[in-house]
Amino acid sequence: YLIGIDLGTSGTKTVLFDKTGKVISSASLEYPMFQEKNGWAEQEPADWWHAAADTIRTVIEKSGIDAGEVKGVGISGQMHGLVMLDRDGKVLRRSIIWCDQRTAAECEEITEKVGAKRLIEITANPALTGFTASKILWVRNHEPETYAKCAHILLPKDYVRYMLTGDFATEVSDASGMQLLDVPNRCWSKEVLEKLDIEESLLAKVYESPEVTGSITEEAAKLTGLKAGTPVVGGAGDNAAAAVGTGVVRDGKAFTTIGTSGVVFAHTDHISIDPKGRVHTFCCAVPGAWHVMGVTQGAGLSLKWFRDNFCAEEKRTAEGMGVDPYFLMDREAERSPIGCNKLLYLPYLMGERTPHLDPDCRGVFFGLSAIHTKYDMLRAVMEGVTYSQRDSVEILRGMGVELQEMLACGGGGSSPLWRQMLADVYDCPVKTVKSKEGPALGAAILAGVGAGLYPSVQEACDAMIQTNEPQEPISENVPRYDAFYQVYRSLYPALK
Ligand code: XUL
Repeated sequence: YLIGIDLGTSGTKTVLFDKTGKVISSASLEYPMFQEKNGWAEQEPADWWHAAADTIRTVIEKSGIDAGEVKGVGISGQMHGLVMLDRDGKVLRRSIIWCDQRTAAECEEITEKVGAKRLIEITANPALTGFTASKILWVRNHEPETYAKCAHILLPKDYVRYMLTGDFATEVSDASGMQLLDVPNRCWSKEVLEKLDIEESLLAKVYESPEVTGSITEEAAKLTGLKAGTPVVGGAGDNAAAAVGTGVVRDGKAFTTIGTSGVVFAHTDHISIDPKGRVHTFCCAVPGAWHVMGVTQGAGLSLKWFRDNFCAEEKRTAEGMGVDPYFLMDREAERSPIGCNKLLYLPYLMGERTPHLDPDCRGVFFGLSAIHTKYDMLRAVMEGVTYSQRDSVEILRGMGVELQEMLACGGGGSSPLWRQMLADVYDCPVKTVKSKEGPALGAAILAGVGAGLYPSVQEACDAMIQTNEPQEPISENVPRYDAFYQVYRSLYPALK
């Protein structure tokens, strides 16, 4: 058996799998996000640890297996968050997490100190507010007394690892999002650390994702029900783990996910960097390989916003029927034709990363007239998110990244209407995998490789992942969507 832990933003999910990838038991626990000021986002590392320990204990108890049969543990998690510990391993302040936007000034500081071109050459990305380096500088600039006490800097999932194994360790995929890693060479960048005046001794040791970084301590064994000595592998950032959990581990493979944010992710055996930094290049969880990914900030978030503000009736009906409100909303969106009677939506409710790198742009309904219905608006939201993801696809295609097979996952990926929209808008077949466990399965697969059950990540994926039949693009829909996409693309520059 293998355990995969997925430390998300809204909660942690832990899943116990057998070695074929079948779910034996699963458990999840939610925790809050603190937003003291507009644009700030923090979480309590103790909440993550309690959720992880509790859910591990639950999945073992529920399954009835002997804890000694768990051959390995893998952790996947929300990326970029800053955890600071003192010399005794105590948490110094709440974690500033990935979606926190307070660090615009620190991004300028980073660009100035390292140089815009050099920063992209080394870290493969421009200075971004979401990434960890700017958060470290923010604490140094605004809370120097906390910074002075800081002895260890960890990412969210690596804090849970520390509590499980007592080791200060990370792995290349998540470390790529700190903006301190030399992404082409997969090690900390002495040049960036020196220019930003950050001591390397603050950072954890970097491993490849399937490597064993330590084992369960006696104390963690008591709290989790795991057996002391069980190996824990590097694991991966949530998107890199989702790639493993959907089998996106070879050139030509890619996935689109629609969760709160949306991601278009492509595996690349060779490093590929967008000189304009519109898509992120990170090390992936397959040793020696990378991935390129574009991010839509307000993907599922746009639909959730629409649901919460305009779909009270659908919510009530869905509750009565015992179905998901999104299921009914799909039906309603189908009442509007492709192009939504000439209504377009830009999903920039939280600013946008790909392709604009503009935290200040905002959402738009464009072309609204008296003929439009709620159904048109609902469909326009879905189409607008899909066009935004096509923006990522276009950049990847322009970089020469091959996209031969596209998987759809996340909440949005479970909607047949949205999957058909993706196939038609991208003009390529879209597949799904049978398992819905994405990042948790990916983390467990990495644990299986680390524990020696499988010789490589690719072979483990071949054994543990099954795909469904692809949904093909409908040929007459492709040019119809394309015409609207061209108008969509012209709106941001026109409105800016
Ligand atoms: C990736 C990113 C998110 C977070 C939270 O760059 O910001 O995917 O990892 O899920």
